[in-house]
Amino acid sequence: MEFRDKVIFVAGGTTGINFGIAKSFAEQGAKVAVLSRKQENIDAALAALRAKGGQAIGFAADVRQIDSLAAAFAGVVAKWGAIDVLISGAAGNFVAPASELSANGFKTVIDIDLLGCFNVMRAAYPHLRKPGAAIVNISAPQSWLPTPSQIHVCAAKAGIDQITRTAAMEWGPQGIRVNAIAPGPIADTEGMKRLAPTPASAQAWVESVPLRRFGTKDELGRVAQWLCSDAAAYVTGVVLPVDGGWSLGGSSAMTHALTAV
Ligand code: HXC
Repeated sequence: MEFRDKVIFVAGGTTGINFGIAKSFAEQGAKVAVLSRKQENIDAALAALRAKGGQAIGFAADVRQIDSLAAAFAGVVAKWGAIDVLISGAAGNFVAPASELSANGFKTVIDIDLLGCFNVMRAAYPHLRKPGAAIVNISAPQSWLPTPSQIHVCAAKAGIDQITRTAAMEWGPQGIRVNAIAPGPIADTEGMKRLAPTPASAQAWVESVPLRRFGTKDELGRVAQWLCSDAAAYVTGVVLPVDGGWSLGGSSAMTHALTAV
C-alpha cells in the first residue's frame, strides 16, 4: 500500500486505460482525482472508485483549455495538498489515411494528445510535490512506428515522447520524475474498438503480438504504479512499451493489424 493517502491526478481518468490506472491507485488507498470533458463519464467513474470506500473527486475540463485545468489543479490542492502522481492520458484517435484527413482532423488529435499533455503538465507543475512527484504520460507505439492511417497520432505521440524527455531534464533538479508508457493493444478500450472493430481484425492484432494476447488495464495500472514507486526512484525520461512485445514487429505489425480493419 505504498500509495495510501498519496494524491493522484489522472487526466482522462474516467474511461479506458486511464480509468484502469486510476482504479489501480485507488485500490492501493490513494486519493484519486479524475478529469474528463464529459460529466456523465465523471459521475460513473466516481461511483466506481468510491464503491469500495475509495476517496475520489472529479473535474469537468478540456485538456485543450489550460485555464480550466488550472482551476482543477487548484481544487485538488485546496482539498488534499500537493500532487504526488500525475497521469496524463487524455487522447483522441480515429483511423484515416493522410490523403483524406482534413487539416482540422490532424489538428484536433495534435491538440488533444500533444498540446493537452503539455497543458496538463504545465498546469500541474506549481502543484506537484517537490521533491518526490512522478509524472506518467501515455504515449503509444505509433510514436516510433510509422503507421498508415495514423499520421495524426504518430505525430502527436512522438511529440509526447519528446516533451516527456525534455521535462525530465528540466524538472529532475526539483525532484520530479517524468516518464511515459506506450501501451500496445489493450483489451476493452475505446482505442481498440476503433482500431480492431471486427472479430477478424481483433484476431489479426492478437496474431501480431509475440505474447499472443491483448494486454489488460490492470497490467497497465501495475506498470504505472511501478514507475511512480520508490522501486523506480532512479528512472526518469523513459518511454516504456507495455505491449507484449508487439512493437518488436516494427511497422509491419501495425500495418498487418490495420489492414484487417
Ligand atoms: C476522419 C475525422 C474522423 C474520422 C473526426 N474527424 N473523426 N476525420 N475520420 N473518423 C475529423 C472531423 O471531420 C473534424 O474535421 C475533426 O476531426 C474534428 O472532429 P470533431 O468531432 O469536431 O472533434 P472532437 O469533438 O473534438 O472529437 C475529437 C475526436 C473524437 C478525436 C475526433 O473521436 C474523440 O473525442 N475521441 C475521444 C475518445 C477517443 O478517441 N479515444 C481513443 C483514444 S485511443 P473537419 O475538417 O471535418 O472539421 C488512443 C490510443 C491509440 O489514442 C493507440 C492504440 C495502439
